[in-house]
Amino acid sequence: MEISSLRVNGQRLKTTLEEMARIGGTPGGGVHRLALSDEDRHARDLFLKWLREINLEVVVDEMGNIFGKRLGKNPNLPPVLSGSHLDTQPKGGRFDGILGVMGVLEVLRTLQENRVETERTVMIVNWTNEEGTRFTPAMLGSGVWAGVLDRDWAYCRTDILGKKFGEELERIGYKGKQPAKRGPVHAYFEFHIEQGPILEKIGKTIGIPKGILGISWYDIFVEGKANQAGPTPMEVRNDALCAAAEMILKANELPARMGGNMVSTVGEIHNFPNSRNIIPGQVRFTLDVRSWDHDLMGRATEEIRKDFLGISEKRGCPVRMEEVWRIRPTVFDPDLVRKVGEAANQLGYFPHPMVSGAGHDAALVSQVCPTAMIFVPSIGGRSHVEVEDTRWEDCEAGANVLLHSILQSAGC
Ligand code: GLV
Ligand code: MN
Ligand code: MN
Repeated sequence: MEISSLRVNGQRLKTTLEEMARIGGTPGGGVHRLALSDEDRHARDLFLKWLREINLEVVVDEMGNIFGKRLGKNPNLPPVLSGSHLDTQPKGGRFDGILGVMGVLEVLRTLQENRVETERTVMIVNWTNEEGTRFTPAMLGSGVWAGVLDRDWAYCRTDILGKKFGEELERIGYKGKQPAKRGPVHAYFEFHIEQGPILEKIGKTIGIPKGILGISWYDIFVEGKANQAGPTPMEVRNDALCAAAEMILKANELPARMGGNMVSTVGEIHNFPNSRNIIPGQVRFTLDVRSWDHDLMGRATEEIRKDFLGISEKRGCPVRMEEVWRIRPTVFDPDLVRKVGEAANQLGYFPHPMVSGAGHDAALVSQVCPTAMIFVPSIGGRSHVEVEDTRWEDCEAGANVLLHSILQSAGC
């Protein structure tokens, strides 16, 4: 068979995604599979079974990243790597991350059943804790692997119950022996749903991002004075929740004030002691600010800090703002991006050049090897929610673009 006419099996990809979605599946049609939870362990067990079925050489590193190797004719050449993540948001979707891992699994199954030999080794990867929702920051597995984050620091990250990343990794049996340290990689491809509304709106099947927005994450701590809700007059209160409410609205107005393609979100809030008849004494909330312009993000941080201090003084509620994560805007390898575009064109798609608003492991991997991504449309632009959806034919189309990008890069 001519290599150019090779195609993935879309039905098999669908069945695989559906089977994986049952692990942590929610009644609302989504998936709840937080990093290093029991559900994550079951997903990993199934993933390993699938890797072994096609005779891949499997390695689990000390961050729990799982790699499967399909040896090339010339195993001394740096391999082509592709993958994403199997962890999800709380009550998240069936496709975010998972499509990228199952997509390359489908590519490898296709190569296997058609006995296609590549020059370079092709490797699949499932990165640990991409979402950053249970353990902050996001992309811990790829970050340590790329040498951007320290392994022992990552092990000490705690979840909301105080459980440590390192201990949870051990508990689920996925703390491997192999150092989480990259070797040379020829190219990294990450196939993903868009998670936004653009492709659907313009009627395109394939999007090719030139990069990813920069991301800053903060934790904000507001101190008030807890007191009885009945006898305490309004004018003597230091209500931490009211101060936080004003701050949250300021954060929402920030992008309009700053200009540029900025977005800003407060998505998590903890109110203490959280009782209907106690004036709130303490609030912790998160802030997520993203932009394609790194300097603008720096200026926005200073603006919002000033706003928060003003509100804090007015309400007598001291505030502390801690940066917990910052990643500069990512620019992918232009040559690899162009080659993905050529693969898409040859398959008859007219890919849309774009920027990714969502963060991906590709951001950290791109710091150490040429990287590119492939996007397919998200129905209604919805993601990180149970109704997250993508048409099966678009999943198949994206997997075919991935197949031919990998073949082009790995040589055969
Ligand atoms: C990753 O899921 C992100 O928050 O963009
Ligand atoms: Mn993702
Ligand atoms: Mn996500």
